[in-house]
Amino acid sequence: MGQIKIKTDHIVSKMGQEPIAQIEKEILAAKEHLLKGDAEGNDFLGWVNLPEEYDKAEYARMKADVARLSAKSKVFVVIGIGGSYLGARMVIEALQSEFASMVRGEKPYVVYAGHTLGEDYYTQLLTLLDHENYSVAVISKSGTTTEPAVAFRIVKAHLEKKYGKAEASQRIVAITDARKGALHDIAVNEGYPMYVIPDNVGGRFSVLTPVGLLPIAMAGFDTDRLLQGAQDMRRLCIEKNTLAENPAMMYAAVRNILYRNGIKVEMLVSSLPNLRYLAEWWKQLYGESEGKDHKGLLPHSLSITTDLHSMGQYVQDGERLMMETMVHVAKPATHVDVPTDEHNLDGINYLVGKSLTEINDCAMQGTVQAHLEGGVPVVEIDVDRIDEYTLGQMIYFFEFACGVSGYTLGVNPFNQPGVEAYKKNMFHLLGKPGF
Ligand code: PA5
Repeated sequence: MGQIKIKTDHIVSKMGQEPIAQIEKEILAAKEHLLKGDAEGNDFLGWVNLPEEYDKAEYARMKADVARLSAKSKVFVVIGIGGSYLGARMVIEALQSEFASMVRGEKPYVVYAGHTLGEDYYTQLLTLLDHENYSVAVISKSGTTTEPAVAFRIVKAHLEKKYGKAEASQRIVAITDARKGALHDIAVNEGYPMYVIPDNVGGRFSVLTPVGLLPIAMAGFDTDRLLQGAQDMRRLCIEKNTLAENPAMMYAAVRNILYRNGIKVEMLVSSLPNLRYLAEWWKQLYGESEGKDHKGLLPHSLSITTDLHSMGQYVQDGERLMMETMVHVAKPATHVDVPTDEHNLDGINYLVGKSLTEINDCAMQGTVQAHLEGGVPVVEIDVDRIDEYTLGQMIYFFEFACGVSGYTLGVNPFNQPGVEAYKKNMFHLLGKPGF
């Protein structure tokens, strides 16, 4: 079993073991809150046991629907925002070719809607959908979120015009609350196949429900392996009670120690472009869970080496307010070596025979060293490779660490009251009845 390893040597060598030893009890207490469900937010802890306790009958039905929809779709439209699309997008973008939109495989190509109100985006989407056979998942836990509701109206009208109402209803699945909400009512009324987001699983913790699993399976990836990775990581997170043995507890500990010592920003750093949506998902998970009561590390991200040529100067030399969490992947899925050139006019023959991963790793190591020298604390997370299994591990690792970290910080990690403020203003401006 490839395991996620967390390295905190740099931080320990700077601060000593004492802060780690001091915070251990608090971390363990926070973990107990998650497992016993005896703290604020305890009505949203369904994700803790989800990798084992998901609805097996619904999962089997989902696979049958995926096979049915895949057979008639070249494009699959996932309509959702925040926790209702970021988890699926993270896994799909981590595993598919960067050029999948141009070099299509046999599986449907997943596109997204409902995460934006950009008008031209929808014109461009509908132009694509004019020419491609497609089907749709509309995803909203509340069933009332404006952005996906607007997107669904637009896409539904297009689908019904293109295929007729009866066939359109065979090309839509709805993923929402079991009993209530506008999307629930539409789905019942139109007879769409429905999948449930459990009451006790919040949006940003929902990737291992049909919210994430159905789009990931539609893109052709192995959700059994994803769940297996999450199950194995869950066992580790639950069974191990020391910081030394439990990487999620250690991660939660280190980020709280650094926060208490004045660090304000955490940057998730990776040297692989296909992990960019891991960072987006992680930003929502930590930002929405911890950014409360004027507390919490601001989640930010960097891609190496790309952003070293844009943000590198600030990280090295700007205001000292950040820590870095570097996700290092040991093995790439494929190999590309630097070819030889007898003229060597570009002066890079010294790299001949080296793989891009060797060069990338040197860039990463060089960056760690430079940033440490520049006063930026660095935590390293080592992952063996990127596949469904290790992504499942990472999902559970970051979720569990987030719950522990939030309770240690002293906030309720499972609500998001701040998200309502913009909505009230927007509804007032749009003239929604009652606002
Ligand atoms: O984590 C959350 O709860 C939110 O980010 C939601 O996922 C997001 O607001 C979308 O909500 P809904 O699924 O109800 O449309």
